Formats: sequence, C-alpha cells, structure tokens
Amino acid sequence: MTSDLDSILDVAKSAAAAGGHVLKRYWRDGVELRDKSANGGKTYDLVSDADLESQAVVAGVISEAFPDHELMGEEDLVGDTTAEHLWVIDPLDGTNNFAHHIPHFAVSVAYYRNQRPAVGVVLNPISGDLYTATFGGGAFHNDAPIKVSGAPSLSNAIVGCGFYYDRGEMMRSTLAAVEEFFSHDIHGIRRFGGAALDLCAVASGMFGAFFEYKLSPWDFAAGQLILTEAGGTITDGRGQPLGLVQSSIAASNSTLHDAVLAITAKHHP
Ligand code: IPD
Ligand code: CA
Ligand code: CA
Repeated sequence: MTSDLDSILDVAKSAAAAGGHVLKRYWRDGVELRDKSANGGKTYDLVSDADLESQAVVAGVISEAFPDHELMGEEDLVGDTTAEHLWVIDPLDGTNNFAHHIPHFAVSVAYYRNQRPAVGVVLNPISGDLYTATFGGGAFHNDAPIKVSGAPSLSNAIVGCGFYYDRGEMMRSTLAAVEEFFSHDIHGIRRFGGAALDLCAVASGMFGAFFEYKLSPWDFAAGQLILTEAGGTITDGRGQPLGLVQSSIAASNSTLHDAVLAITAKHHP
C-alpha cells in the first residue's frame, strides 16, 4: 500500500502546486471578492475567482491521473463520500486572510480510501510551506519528518483556535472555551485563520492543541492525516471520531487530548 500511496501523494502534490500557482497569480494581480450571502451565506464569508479557478485546476490534475475517482470540494464539488477513492479539496483555505493580503492561506488536498484518510497535502503557496502525509508513512514539512510537541500539560502549550462564520451562540461558546483555556495558564491563544494550516501547526509542534466548533471536511481532511501521522490525536469537540461531515474539531499532541476535550465538550454549542 505504501508505494501505491506514494504515487497518489505525487499527484496530490502536483494538484496542490497547480492550485497554489493560481492563488499566487491572483495574489499578485488582485481579485474581486464576493460574499456568499446570495447563496444563504454570510456577508463576511467570501469567495473569489481565485477559489474557483484553484479548485478547477486541482480537480483537473487529479481527474487526469485518476479519471474514475470521486471529487469533493468546497466550491460545489459534491463527491460520493462512500466511494472507494475520494478526494477532498479546499482550493483556498484562509480566504479571509487572502482577501486582506495576509500571506497565510493554503491549498488542502486529501485522498480517502474507503472513507479513511490515506494521503494529505497542505501547501501555503506564498511561504512555500508544504506539509504531507501518507497513512503509515509519517508526516513531513518540506520533506523533513515532523512530530507533535512534547508539552505535558496545557500550561506548556500554545493553543490555536478558529471561529466559524456563524456568530451568536457559536462565537460565545468559542470565547468561553478560550477563556477557560487561559485559566489553565496556557502560554497563549492563536487565531491564524486557516484550519488546514492550524492542524499542521499542531502536527509540527507549534501548537499543543487546536479547536474550532464547526469545520467542513475539506478544512480538516488533509490536516487530520498529517496530524495523526505526526503523533497527534484529532476528534470532534466531544471526543467522537470524525466523519466526512461538518463537525467540531479538537486536535492535540495526544498527551493533552483529555484536557482539551474537558474544555471543548463543556462549552460545545
Ligand atoms: C475557513 C478557515 C478558517 C476557519 C473557518 C473556515 P475558508 O475556511 O479555515 O480558519 O475558521 O471555519 O471555514 O472559508 O477560508 O476556506
Ligand atoms: Ca476552508
Ligand atoms: Ca475555502
């Protein structure tokens, strides 16, 4: 299976690089942002031609290599989640950062086999940070192996978090959890604005933990494999296994997982 996954990883890397190329061009030349309110979204939930074109080229690279594989992507790409071969794509994770010219966003590409993550790639096309993993093959940052932090308690950790586009109860729950994390003397909270890279930050030991109360499969599909291959643990915010559905997320270096869940479950919206 490993050599089989290595060739799939090569395709995933090529697809992410192609998407990243598109994002870099729009980053340089500028792009008009639209909000998703016309489709029932929020005025601060943004999309652009960069998202759409990135998804088109990512999907194109994958379909050329594997014409019979299913594709699921944020921009209206509905794949069969029960398929033997399924790709899960976020063509631009961190759209708000992109919109405000903050160079922290990514292309996220995951390959699932029989509903389990088998390959994950997260690429920040501006910094060149490339995170990869194959099931059973370890996790890497720019080809160097990575592992989670050895922080033994929350008081040794930085904790990342995210705020879904919903405000109201979701935001109050997140802020209550953040406050409780601080009461455990964490070194700090970070909200960087791209869930895929946040999971890679846990995988590479920058964050001891990360949580967010609502993410979509394309936000966490690649990052979850990179994290688990680096020795981390990821569940929903109540400790349940993740599926290919919208979910809360609790991610950690494994050692901290129970302590993280005690907080995320308590304040879960
Ligand atoms: C978002 C980012 C953000 C997270 C949101 C996601 P998008 O993805 O990952 O960090 O807080 O919940 O929806 O919209 O930039 O692809
Ligand atoms: Ca996303
Ligand atoms: Ca996106």
